[in-house]
Amino acid sequence: MNALIIYVSIHHRNTEKVAKIMAKTLEAELTKPWEIKPEELLKYDLIGFGSGIYYWKHHRALFKLVESLPRMKGKKAFIFSTAGINIPFINHRKLRSALRKKGFEIVGEFSCRGWDTNGWLEKIGGISKEHPNEKDLENARRFAEKLKSMI
Ligand SMILES: Cc1cc2nc3c(=O)[nH]c(=O)nc-3n(C[C@H](O)[C@H](O)[C@H](O)COP(=O)(O)O)c2cc1C
Repeated sequence: MNALIIYVSIHHRNTEKVAKIMAKTLEAELTKPWEIKPEELLKYDLIGFGSGIYYWKHHRALFKLVESLPRMKGKKAFIFSTAGINIPFINHRKLRSALRKKGFEIVGEFSCRGWDTNGWLEKIGGISKEHPNEKDLENARRFAEKLKSMI
């Protein structure tokens, strides 16, 4: 299986920790959305899209890339994120919809908490401190194992 993980992690590198453990498990390549050309995605069997959640959605660079893609009929994708308040039902909604519009089949979603010191939260040391922790990363590894066995 040929897997690729595209991620953005700008706040505390929280999502990068998750992306790296998934990449190791899936033997996937890791890249940023601005480092890859749309047509290059065609050669992968499975593509993961992830970032921190910034104002209730994924990073805009992921949306920019997805919008520029050709039709990806039936291509398998998964979504992941870290967020101060982990509510994937809301936080993943926009990216899920953008990927489906392009024809991706979403085969899994993963999310966990990530240390958040945005704005005034900095004054109290942030929320979801020390996340992703060992348990979160173990859950990410298990999620990737499951994907590997499915595909
Ligand atoms: C500008 C900004 C906006 C954010 N908006 C949200 C949000 O809407 N919901 C939430 O739960 N966390 C929010 N966060 C917290 C991040 O999602 C969280 O810290 C995440 O783990 C950051 O991932 P990263 O370190 O990979 O960038 C925000 C953080 C920043 C910097």
